[in-house]
Amino acid sequence: MTIKPSPSQPDALVQIDETGRALRSPPDLGSGQHRSALVNVTNVCNLTCRHCFVFRDENPKDPRDKIDDATLLHQLRVLRDRHGIEFMLFMGGEPMIRRDVVLEGMKLFRRSSIVTNGTYGIPSAPGCIVTVSLDGPEAPNDAIRGEGVFQKVKEAIHARDPEDGTVVLLQMTLTRANESCLEEFVEAVREWPIDGMTFTFYVPTRDDRTGLAWDDLRDRDPVVERLIALKRSYPRLIKSNIGALELMLSDVAMRYTGERGEPCLARETLPLYLGSGGEFERPFCCYGNDVDCTRCGAYAVFNAAYHQMQDGHESELQR
Ligand SMILES: C[S@@+](CC[C@H](N)C(=O)[O-])C[C@H]1O[C@@H](n2cnc3c(N)ncnc32)[C@H](O)[C@@H]1O
Ligand code: SF4
Ligand code: SF4
Repeated sequence: MTIKPSPSQPDALVQIDETGRALRSPPDLGSGQHRSALVNVTNVCNLTCRHCFVFRDENPKDPRDKIDDATLLHQLRVLRDRHGIEFMLFMGGEPMIRRDVVLEGMKLFRRSSIVTNGTYGIPSAPGCIVTVSLDGPEAPNDAIRGEGVFQKVKEAIHARDPEDGTVVLLQMTLTRANESCLEEFVEAVREWPIDGMTFTFYVPTRDDRTGLAWDDLRDRDPVVERLIALKRSYPRLIKSNIGALELMLSDVAMRYTGERGEPCLARETLPLYLGSGGEFERPFCCYGNDVDCTRCGAYAVFNAAYHQMQDGHESELQR
Protein backbone atom coordinates (compact mmCIF):
# COMPACT_ATOMS: atom_id res chain seq x y z
CA MET A 1 0.00 0.00 0.00
CA THR A 2 1.21 3.55 -0.69
CA ILE A 3 0.28 6.92 0.75
CA LYS A 4 -0.29 9.88 -1.60
CA PRO A 5 -1.70 13.40 -1.25
CA SER A 6 -5.39 13.51 -2.19
CA PRO A 7 -6.19 15.69 -5.26
CA SER A 8 -9.42 16.96 -3.62
CA GLN A 9 -7.85 17.54 -0.19
CA PRO A 10 -4.18 18.33 -0.83
CA ASP A 11 -3.44 18.48 2.91
CA ALA A 12 -4.88 15.05 3.59
CA LEU A 13 -2.95 11.89 2.89
CA VAL A 14 -4.95 9.21 1.14
CA GLN A 15 -4.02 5.58 1.25
CA ILE A 16 -4.02 3.68 -2.03
CA ASP A 17 -4.46 -0.08 -1.92
CA GLU A 18 -2.77 -2.73 -4.11
CA THR A 19 -5.31 -2.21 -6.90
CA GLY A 20 -4.75 1.55 -7.02
CA ARG A 21 -8.04 2.27 -5.26
CA ALA A 22 -8.10 5.27 -2.88
CA LEU A 23 -9.27 4.27 0.58
CA ARG A 24 -12.08 6.32 2.11
CA SER A 25 -11.13 8.43 5.13
CA PRO A 26 -13.16 8.18 8.34
CA PRO A 27 -15.86 10.80 9.00
CA ASP A 28 -15.37 13.78 11.28
CA LEU A 29 -16.16 12.53 14.81
CA GLY A 30 -15.15 15.72 16.58
CA SER A 31 -11.78 16.93 17.68
CA GLY A 32 -11.68 15.33 21.15
CA GLN A 33 -8.78 13.23 22.33
CA HIS A 34 -9.70 9.71 23.51
CA ARG A 35 -7.15 7.39 25.07
CA SER A 36 -9.56 4.50 24.62
CA ALA A 37 -12.04 3.48 21.95
CA LEU A 38 -14.10 0.51 20.89
CA VAL A 39 -14.95 -0.59 17.39
CA ASN A 40 -17.77 -2.74 16.09
CA VAL A 41 -15.98 -4.43 13.21
CA THR A 42 -19.19 -6.07 12.01
CA ASN A 43 -22.90 -5.80 12.64
CA VAL A 44 -23.23 -9.52 11.99
CA CYS A 45 -23.66 -11.99 14.84
CA ASN A 46 -24.41 -15.70 14.94
CA LEU A 47 -26.26 -15.36 18.27
CA THR A 48 -29.31 -13.40 19.37
CA CYS A 49 -28.75 -12.86 23.09
CA ARG A 50 -31.74 -11.61 25.00
CA HIS A 51 -29.96 -8.72 26.67
CA CYS A 52 -27.86 -7.44 23.76
CA PHE A 53 -27.63 -3.65 23.43
CA VAL A 54 -25.99 -3.71 19.99
CA PHE A 55 -29.11 -4.68 18.06
CA ARG A 56 -31.48 -2.24 19.73
CA ASP A 57 -33.74 -0.14 17.49
CA GLU A 58 -31.95 3.18 17.86
CA ASN A 59 -28.44 1.90 17.12
CA PRO A 60 -26.53 1.65 13.82
CA LYS A 61 -26.70 -2.16 13.44
CA ASP A 62 -27.69 -3.17 9.92
CA PRO A 63 -25.73 -6.35 9.00
CA ARG A 64 -25.61 -5.11 5.39
CA ASP A 65 -23.47 -2.13 6.46
CA LYS A 66 -19.93 -3.32 5.91
CA ILE A 67 -16.42 -1.92 5.77
CA ASP A 68 -13.76 -3.86 3.86
CA ASP A 69 -10.50 -4.93 5.51
CA ALA A 70 -8.20 -2.37 3.90
CA THR A 71 -10.58 0.55 4.60
CA LEU A 72 -11.11 -0.61 8.18
CA LEU A 73 -7.38 -0.74 8.90
CA HIS A 74 -6.78 2.59 7.18
CA GLN A 75 -9.58 4.29 9.12
CA LEU A 76 -8.45 2.84 12.44
CA ARG A 77 -4.97 4.19 11.78
CA VAL A 78 -6.31 7.66 10.91
CA LEU A 79 -8.64 7.72 13.93
CA ARG A 80 -5.81 6.55 16.21
CA ASP A 81 -3.63 9.46 15.10
CA ARG A 82 -6.47 12.00 15.09
CA HIS A 83 -7.80 11.19 18.56
CA GLY A 84 -4.68 9.88 20.31
CA ILE A 85 -6.21 6.41 20.79
CA GLU A 86 -3.95 4.04 22.74
CA PHE A 87 -6.38 1.34 23.84
CA MET A 88 -8.76 -0.33 21.39
CA LEU A 89 -11.46 -2.86 22.19
CA PHE A 90 -12.54 -4.94 19.19
CA MET A 91 -16.22 -5.80 19.38
CA GLY A 92 -19.29 -6.43 17.20
CA GLY A 93 -21.63 -8.13 16.53
CA GLU A 94 -19.24 -11.03 16.73
CA PRO A 95 -15.69 -9.81 16.01
CA MET A 96 -14.31 -13.32 15.38
CA ILE A 97 -16.37 -13.47 12.20
CA ARG A 98 -13.55 -11.18 10.97
CA ARG A 99 -10.72 -12.82 12.89
CA ASP A 100 -7.86 -12.01 10.47
CA VAL A 101 -8.53 -8.30 10.18
CA VAL A 102 -9.12 -8.02 13.94
CA LEU A 103 -5.75 -9.64 14.68
CA GLU A 104 -4.15 -7.27 12.16
CA GLY A 105 -5.95 -4.23 13.58
CA MET A 106 -4.83 -5.09 17.11
CA LYS A 107 -1.25 -4.35 16.10
CA LEU A 108 -2.13 -0.70 15.45
CA PHE A 109 -2.63 0.18 19.11
CA ARG A 110 -0.47 0.26 22.20
CA ARG A 111 -2.95 -2.10 23.85
CA SER A 112 -5.79 -3.99 22.22
CA SER A 113 -8.38 -6.40 23.47
CA ILE A 114 -11.28 -8.42 22.08
CA VAL A 115 -14.65 -9.32 23.51
CA THR A 116 -16.11 -12.40 21.84
CA ASN A 117 -18.91 -14.90 22.29
CA GLY A 118 -16.32 -17.70 22.01
CA THR A 119 -18.25 -19.81 19.52
CA TYR A 120 -15.60 -19.42 16.78
CA GLY A 121 -12.80 -20.55 19.09
CA ILE A 122 -10.59 -18.42 21.29
CA PRO A 123 -8.12 -16.32 19.28
CA SER A 124 -4.46 -16.40 20.21
CA ALA A 125 -3.38 -12.82 20.88
CA PRO A 126 -0.22 -12.90 23.01
CA GLY A 127 0.04 -9.94 25.38
CA CYS A 128 -3.64 -9.02 24.84
CA ILE A 129 -6.83 -9.64 26.77
CA VAL A 130 -9.54 -11.79 25.17
CA THR A 131 -12.78 -11.54 27.09
CA VAL A 132 -15.19 -14.41 26.48
CA SER A 133 -18.84 -13.87 27.31
CA LEU A 134 -20.84 -16.52 29.16
CA ASP A 135 -23.88 -15.64 31.21
CA GLY A 136 -24.20 -18.48 33.67
CA PRO A 137 -24.04 -22.27 33.99
CA GLU A 138 -25.25 -24.31 31.03
CA ALA A 139 -29.04 -24.01 31.29
CA PRO A 140 -29.31 -20.31 32.21
CA ASN A 141 -26.55 -19.37 29.76
CA ASP A 142 -28.18 -21.23 26.90
CA ALA A 143 -31.56 -19.67 27.71
CA ILE A 144 -29.91 -16.29 27.08
CA ARG A 145 -27.21 -17.06 24.46
CA GLY A 146 -28.73 -20.03 22.65
CA GLU A 147 -28.87 -23.81 22.77
CA GLY A 148 -25.47 -25.54 22.88
CA VAL A 149 -23.47 -22.32 23.35
CA PHE A 150 -22.18 -23.17 26.83
CA GLN A 151 -20.66 -26.51 25.71
CA LYS A 152 -19.18 -24.95 22.59
CA VAL A 153 -17.47 -22.21 24.60
CA LYS A 154 -16.32 -24.68 27.25
CA GLU A 155 -14.71 -26.84 24.56
CA ALA A 156 -13.04 -23.81 22.96
CA ILE A 157 -11.60 -22.66 26.28
CA HIS A 158 -10.20 -26.13 26.97
CA ALA A 159 -8.86 -26.54 23.42
CA ARG A 160 -6.67 -23.42 23.44
CA ASP A 161 -3.03 -23.37 24.45
CA PRO A 162 -3.07 -21.84 27.95
CA GLU A 163 0.63 -20.99 27.57
CA ASP A 164 0.27 -18.87 24.42
CA GLY A 165 0.48 -15.58 26.31
CA THR A 166 -3.14 -14.52 25.74
CA VAL A 167 -4.98 -13.36 28.86
CA VAL A 168 -8.40 -15.04 28.73
CA LEU A 169 -11.16 -13.77 30.98
CA LEU A 170 -14.74 -14.99 31.24
CA GLN A 171 -17.33 -12.22 31.49
CA MET A 172 -20.83 -12.62 32.89
CA THR A 173 -23.42 -9.91 32.34
CA LEU A 174 -25.78 -9.98 35.30
CA THR A 175 -29.47 -9.36 34.73
CA ARG A 176 -32.59 -10.24 36.66
CA ALA A 177 -32.78 -13.42 34.55
CA ASN A 178 -29.44 -14.91 35.63
CA GLU A 179 -28.46 -13.28 38.95
CA SER A 180 -29.73 -16.28 40.92
CA CYS A 181 -27.02 -18.51 39.46
CA LEU A 182 -24.08 -16.19 40.12
CA GLU A 183 -22.39 -18.41 42.75
CA GLU A 184 -23.21 -21.61 40.84
CA PHE A 185 -21.54 -20.14 37.75
CA VAL A 186 -18.34 -19.29 39.60
CA GLU A 187 -18.23 -22.84 41.01
CA ALA A 188 -18.80 -24.30 37.53
CA VAL A 189 -15.91 -22.48 35.84
CA ARG A 190 -13.36 -21.76 38.54
CA GLU A 191 -11.14 -24.74 37.60
CA TRP A 192 -11.20 -23.91 33.88
CA PRO A 193 -7.91 -22.82 32.26
CA ILE A 194 -8.72 -19.10 32.37
CA ASP A 195 -6.94 -16.10 33.82
CA GLY A 196 -9.92 -14.71 35.63
CA MET A 197 -13.55 -13.63 35.61
CA THR A 198 -15.15 -10.24 35.13
CA PHE A 199 -18.71 -9.18 35.80
CA THR A 200 -20.83 -6.36 34.53
CA PHE A 201 -24.51 -5.55 35.07
CA TYR A 202 -27.29 -4.93 32.59
CA VAL A 203 -27.58 -1.54 30.89
CA PRO A 204 -31.28 -1.00 30.14
CA THR A 205 -33.01 1.30 27.68
CA ARG A 206 -35.12 4.15 29.04
CA ASP A 207 -38.35 2.26 28.33
CA ASP A 208 -36.98 -1.21 28.98
CA ARG A 209 -39.65 -3.89 28.73
CA THR A 210 -37.37 -6.93 28.67
CA GLY A 211 -37.85 -7.75 32.34
CA LEU A 212 -34.05 -8.00 32.61
CA ALA A 213 -33.53 -4.71 34.46
CA TRP A 214 -33.94 -3.97 38.16
CA ASP A 215 -36.66 -1.30 38.27
CA ASP A 216 -35.21 0.21 41.42
CA LEU A 217 -31.44 0.26 42.01
CA ARG A 218 -32.05 -0.83 45.58
CA ASP A 219 -33.22 -4.21 44.23
CA ARG A 220 -29.82 -4.67 42.55
CA ASP A 221 -27.86 -4.07 45.76
CA PRO A 222 -28.10 -7.66 47.12
CA VAL A 223 -26.56 -8.95 43.86
CA VAL A 224 -23.71 -6.44 44.11
CA GLU A 225 -23.19 -7.52 47.75
CA ARG A 226 -23.09 -11.18 46.69
CA LEU A 227 -20.46 -10.37 44.08
CA ILE A 228 -18.39 -8.54 46.72
CA ALA A 229 -18.62 -11.66 48.91
CA LEU A 230 -17.46 -13.85 46.00
CA LYS A 231 -14.54 -11.51 45.39
CA ARG A 232 -13.53 -11.97 49.03
CA SER A 233 -13.69 -15.77 48.58
CA TYR A 234 -11.87 -15.82 45.22
CA PRO A 235 -9.71 -12.69 45.13
CA ARG A 236 -7.39 -13.91 42.37
CA LEU A 237 -10.02 -15.43 40.11
CA ILE A 238 -12.46 -12.52 40.25
CA LYS A 239 -10.95 -9.38 38.75
CA SER A 240 -13.60 -6.91 39.95
CA ASN A 241 -12.45 -4.36 42.54
CA ILE A 242 -14.45 -4.23 45.75
CA GLY A 243 -14.06 -0.45 45.81
CA ALA A 244 -15.58 -0.16 42.34
CA LEU A 245 -18.44 -2.53 43.20
CA GLU A 246 -19.26 -0.45 46.28
CA LEU A 247 -19.78 2.56 44.00
CA MET A 248 -22.55 0.58 42.26
CA LEU A 249 -24.66 0.51 45.43
CA SER A 250 -27.91 2.44 45.17
CA ASP A 251 -27.03 5.14 47.71
CA VAL A 252 -24.13 6.41 45.56
CA ALA A 253 -24.39 4.91 42.05
CA MET A 254 -26.00 7.93 40.40
CA ARG A 255 -23.10 10.16 41.39
CA TYR A 256 -21.12 8.29 38.72
CA THR A 257 -23.79 7.80 36.05
CA GLY A 258 -25.93 10.95 36.40
CA GLU A 259 -29.38 11.29 34.86
CA ARG A 260 -27.90 11.36 31.38
CA GLY A 261 -24.26 10.31 31.70
CA GLU A 262 -23.05 13.79 32.77
CA PRO A 263 -20.33 12.53 35.17
CA CYS A 264 -19.84 9.18 33.41
CA LEU A 265 -16.14 8.52 32.81
CA ALA A 266 -16.92 5.72 30.34
CA ARG A 267 -18.08 8.42 27.92
CA GLU A 268 -14.42 9.35 27.46
CA THR A 269 -14.14 6.13 25.44
CA LEU A 270 -14.85 6.74 21.74
CA PRO A 271 -17.45 4.26 20.46
CA LEU A 272 -17.21 3.44 16.73
CA TYR A 273 -20.38 1.78 15.43
CA LEU A 274 -20.84 0.76 11.79
CA GLY A 275 -23.55 2.94 10.32
CA SER A 276 -25.17 3.45 6.94
CA GLY A 277 -22.91 2.46 4.00
CA GLY A 278 -20.26 1.13 6.39
CA GLU A 279 -19.44 4.64 7.66
CA PHE A 280 -18.41 4.89 11.31
CA GLU A 281 -20.90 6.62 13.61
CA ARG A 282 -20.44 7.74 17.18
CA PRO A 283 -23.46 6.83 19.34
CA PHE A 284 -24.27 8.45 22.70
CA CYS A 285 -22.01 6.01 24.57
CA CYS A 286 -20.43 2.56 24.22
CA TYR A 287 -23.85 1.06 24.97
CA GLY A 288 -25.49 2.85 22.06
CA ASN A 289 -28.07 5.61 21.76
CA ASP A 290 -30.97 4.52 23.92
CA VAL A 291 -29.67 3.96 27.45
CA ASP A 292 -31.05 4.61 30.91
CA CYS A 293 -28.05 6.02 32.73
CA THR A 294 -29.95 6.11 36.03
CA ARG A 295 -29.98 2.29 36.01
CA CYS A 296 -26.68 1.70 34.21
CA GLY A 297 -24.80 -1.37 35.38
CA ALA A 298 -21.66 -1.00 33.29
CA TYR A 299 -18.82 -2.01 35.60
CA ALA A 300 -16.41 0.12 33.52
CA VAL A 301 -18.21 3.29 34.67
CA PHE A 302 -17.71 2.56 38.36
CA ASN A 303 -14.22 1.12 37.94
CA ALA A 304 -13.10 4.28 36.14
CA ALA A 305 -14.55 6.42 38.96
CA TYR A 306 -12.86 4.21 41.55
CA HIS A 307 -9.47 4.53 39.83
CA GLN A 308 -9.87 8.28 39.47
CA MET A 309 -10.48 8.51 43.23
CA GLN A 310 -7.49 6.29 43.94
CA ASP A 311 -5.28 8.48 41.75
CA GLY A 312 -6.60 11.62 43.50
CA HIS A 313 -5.94 10.03 46.87
CA GLU A 314 -2.39 9.14 45.87
CA SER A 315 -1.58 12.65 44.68
CA GLU A 316 -3.06 14.03 47.96
CA LEU A 317 -0.66 11.78 49.86
CA GLN A 318 2.27 12.89 47.72
CA ARG A 319 1.65 16.57 48.44
C1 LIG B 1 -22.25 -6.70 22.84
S1 LIG B 1 -21.19 -8.06 23.07
C2 LIG B 1 -20.20 -8.04 21.60
C3 LIG B 1 -19.11 -9.05 21.58
C4 LIG B 1 -19.50 -10.50 21.50
N1 LIG B 1 -20.50 -10.74 20.56
C5 LIG B 1 -19.89 -11.02 22.87
O1 LIG B 1 -21.05 -11.41 23.08
O2 LIG B 1 -19.01 -11.02 23.73
C6 LIG B 1 -20.05 -7.46 24.34
C7 LIG B 1 -20.47 -7.69 25.77
O3 LIG B 1 -21.56 -6.86 26.05
C8 LIG B 1 -22.43 -7.56 26.93
N2 LIG B 1 -23.78 -6.98 26.84
C9 LIG B 1 -24.68 -7.15 25.87
N3 LIG B 1 -25.81 -6.47 26.12
C10 LIG B 1 -25.61 -5.82 27.31
C11 LIG B 1 -26.40 -4.94 28.08
N4 LIG B 1 -27.63 -4.58 27.70
N5 LIG B 1 -25.88 -4.47 29.22
C12 LIG B 1 -24.63 -4.82 29.62
N6 LIG B 1 -23.83 -5.64 28.92
C13 LIG B 1 -24.31 -6.14 27.76
C14 LIG B 1 -22.36 -8.96 26.38
O4 LIG B 1 -22.87 -9.91 27.30
C15 LIG B 1 -20.89 -9.11 26.10
O5 LIG B 1 -20.20 -9.55 27.25
S1 SF4 C 1 -23.11 -12.67 20.93
FE1 SF4 C 1 -22.60 -10.59 21.58
S2 SF4 C 1 -23.20 -9.26 19.86
FE2 SF4 C 1 -24.10 -11.27 19.49
S3 SF4 C 1 -26.17 -11.05 20.28
FE3 SF4 C 1 -24.89 -11.90 21.93
S4 SF4 C 1 -24.15 -10.13 23.13
FE4 SF4 C 1 -24.94 -9.38 21.16
S1 SF4 D 1 -25.46 4.23 29.94
FE1 SF4 D 1 -23.85 3.95 31.42
S2 SF4 D 1 -21.98 3.97 30.19
FE2 SF4 D 1 -23.57 4.91 28.94
S3 SF4 D 1 -23.40 7.12 29.38
FE3 SF4 D 1 -24.96 6.28 30.74
S4 SF4 D 1 -23.85 5.87 32.63
FE4 SF4 D 1 -22.32 6.05 31.01
